[in-house]
Amino acid sequence: MPRPPRYAELFVPLDLERPLQEQLLRHMRAAVVAGELSPGRKLPSTRALARHLRVSRTTTQLVYDQLQAEGFIVTRGGSGTFIAQIEPSPPRTSRVAPSHARPPLLSRHAARVAETRRRWGALATPAARQPVHFHPGVPDPRLFPRNAWARVLAECARREGRITSDYPDVVGARTLREVLAQHLATTRGVRCSASQIVIVTGMHQGLGLVARALADEGDVAVVEDPGYVGGAAVLAAEGMHVISAPVDRHGVDIRRLRAPAGRRVCMIHVTPSHQFPTGVVMAYPRRRTLLAWANAQRAIVFEEDYHAEFRFRGQPVESLYALDDSGTVVHGGTFAKSMSPALRIGYLVLPPALAEPIEHAKWLADFGSPALEQAALARFIERGDYARHLRRCRVAYWHRREALIGALERRLPQASWSGDDAGLHLLVRLADMTPKAEPRLLEAAVKAGVGIMSARIFHAAAPADVQLLLGYACLAEPEIEDGVRRLARAVRAASRR
Ligand SMILES: Cc1ncc(COP(=O)(O)O)c(C=O)c1O
Repeated sequence: MPRPPRYAELFVPLDLERPLQEQLLRHMRAAVVAGELSPGRKLPSTRALARHLRVSRTTTQLVYDQLQAEGFIVTRGGSGTFIAQIEPSPPRTSRVAPSHARPPLLSRHAARVAETRRRWGALATPAARQPVHFHPGVPDPRLFPRNAWARVLAECARREGRITSDYPDVVGARTLREVLAQHLATTRGVRCSASQIVIVTGMHQGLGLVARALADEGDVAVVEDPGYVGGAAVLAAEGMHVISAPVDRHGVDIRRLRAPAGRRVCMIHVTPSHQFPTGVVMAYPRRRTLLAWANAQRAIVFEEDYHAEFRFRGQPVESLYALDDSGTVVHGGTFAKSMSPALRIGYLVLPPALAEPIEHAKWLADFGSPALEQAALARFIERGDYARHLRRCRVAYWHRREALIGALERRLPQASWSGDDAGLHLLVRLADMTPKAEPRLLEAAVKAGVGIMSARIFHAAAPADVQLLLGYACLAEPEIEDGVRRLARAVRAASRR
């Protein structure tokens, strides 16, 4: 009578093209977890199993060693190898949604962030599917200085030392902070020492760190209305109570803020050199009033130096930081628009008393930003490559801005806009369209093949007209002309119905 195979559960259909050791290991793990090899069951010796499976003994030995290290099997001196006492998992009915799986209980934070992303997504036509997309908030990747960047990156990677082998400096590479201190003094009137600078992964991280250092749960953060919802979402996610102060053509008006009684106001986020999304410059009297207000509250003004690099008319606008002499302003900037959002490098210039708390917060967040890119950026600025790159971008964006304004004047005479002195987008108003027509316009834009973004999400209360954020940085002039032609067609279609 034929004898049943001795180690039937250990029959492994081995694929000779793939590593045998890995296949056997996976098979045995799965058999233990499923209870096919039950706890206490004795296993064959490595020699016997190797013979049975026609593999080398080294293979079975390495598999047993690994299973033992992972706690699936145990050896009992002299008497052999056994399956460990492990509860078998209940059988899976489906790989995609196991019947016993229960969704994790999510936090209010997760719900808030999901809601912000959903609202954001709903107000833009799907990116990348349109022949022309007026994508705001990103620079043209075709202008990225590939060769110069590759040179400095390679130079820094080849250099001996800590850059590639140790944790980075928590507050940022010393060289980058020194170069930045000089750069900011000459371009933005921001006079600071390298020890006041902390390198961050971008504005979102910068805002979050400052909130963590200043605010307790429920403390108040003020944002601009309209304003950058990404910033408001970061502050809310940190547990702050976020309220807004209205923006008019002179910038944010802090006198019209209605702060709730009994709560501490500990920071305000502003974009004074090119307000997001309106593009207005904060007027000097407003700046004075804001600083006095913040001082009286002992609140910090977080100045996001938004789009200051791309000014097309007049002189660069003075920073709030330069105006302050009481340690009230944190000055934040990012290389996301002037170099690439993929770099994830930004910076904070801090009042001296905040440098250490922010260093602690950054340490806890990630131990510091990637060092190689920081060293490369420092070299890039030092060599004059950054200034050259900015000059090139400014010229290209200036022509694109002119093309957009020209095309709007010709094809959408009912439109008006703001924010054309600087930046990478215009805020375009269609005063003859009511907000009710907006979904129709977004739909018609998709049909007409043009990607646009509504600015409604940036307002606390929906505006009375339709407002679009049209980014022009990534489009060549003929594409801009074509895009506005498509947009005009969509406006006509949405107005007809
Ligand atoms: C006003 C404003 N601030 C900050 C950011 C994000 O900056 P970062 O990439 O440095 O986090 C954006 C992104 O578009 C923005 O529009």
